[in-house]
Amino acid sequence: MKYSKITGTGSYLPEKILTNADLEKIVDTTSEWIVSRTGIEERRIAGDNEFTCDLAEAAARNAISAANINAKDIDLIIVATTTPDRIFPSTACLLQERLGIHGCAAFDVQAVCTGFVYGMGIAEKFIRTGSAKRALIVGAETLSRIIDWRDRSTCVLFGDGAGAVILEASDSEGIISSHLHADGKYKELLTVPVGVSSGHEKLKQTEAYIQMQGNEVFRVAVNTLGRIVDETLAANNMKKSDITWLVPHQANIRIINATAKKLGISTDHVVVTVNKHGNTSAASIPLAFDEAVRDGRIKRGDTVMMEAFGGGFTWGSVLLKY
Ligand code: UT7
Repeated sequence: MKYSKITGTGSYLPEKILTNADLEKIVDTTSEWIVSRTGIEERRIAGDNEFTCDLAEAAARNAISAANINAKDIDLIIVATTTPDRIFPSTACLLQERLGIHGCAAFDVQAVCTGFVYGMGIAEKFIRTGSAKRALIVGAETLSRIIDWRDRSTCVLFGDGAGAVILEASDSEGIISSHLHADGKYKELLTVPVGVSSGHEKLKQTEAYIQMQGNEVFRVAVNTLGRIVDETLAANNMKKSDITWLVPHQANIRIINATAKKLGISTDHVVVTVNKHGNTSAASIPLAFDEAVRDGRIKRGDTVMMEAFGGGFTWGSVLLKY
């Protein structure tokens, strides 16, 4: 079997909603500024005892049930996350145990906001080479834990959530191509500048939060996403008009609109959730995809382009026939 096809989708959002009005009470900002610069109206925040693997598990169970499979038939688990529960074991291993699966490969992918696209690209190659038949790919984040709630330039942007898909070997066309890129020269523009090997002792201090040079990131994101659209179409000898749906990473409505314009696609064929979820990093694409599949907008046979850009910088796309 040559192709890999999405057979089920799922997502999960924590209950707590943080609105722009709530943020006005925390930092010097206005709802008007946040909406006009980003399109974000509200975001979800994980409960005190709710962790990334809890969000991942709920989304994974939804996807497993939508695919109508038994969890034990999954033979590859990839979790894309920047906010793992533990330094190790990986969140994928924690999730594997929760789902009662034993023995299959399970690992995390760390490509920040492009993590889910990386996960799809990796899983597709496992399936195409015969190394896996039924993969679970999850994007899950509790970014609220690495936000400096005193920094208005970042705290208004991010949220928590999870999305998942089941990708299965198939005789009919599914993933058409995936395109993965990175350039570490931009490492300082979007970063949490401490980690395990360096600055571990500062993990509870100011340095352990997201730091971003927003307008620089914005500029590179718009240019790079424009190029990835061209690269994806050219690799498949396809025209812009062949794309039925754009499911972009949800960081900023202005970035999404710029990419939609580049693709010449009308905004009612672009899935937008950034207004309700903010930027949920690796979770944003599977969350948006699940919403549009469940409400019937994305239908079997539609051609979908997913694209993302994030810290690293990393960027990439997945083109698929749903
Ligand atoms: O997911 C990974 C990729 N991440 C992204 O793609 C994010 C990319 N960047 C962005 O989305 C935008 O750059 C932001 C939304 C972060 C910022 O929008 P901007 O239009 O680039 O604004 P700016 O950073 O140039 O700031 C404009 C002004 C500044 O004031 P001055 O220096 O002009 O007086 C900021 O201090 O807005 C001020 N500002 C705020 N004002 C009210 C920054 N944050 C806020 C805020 N409320 N929350």
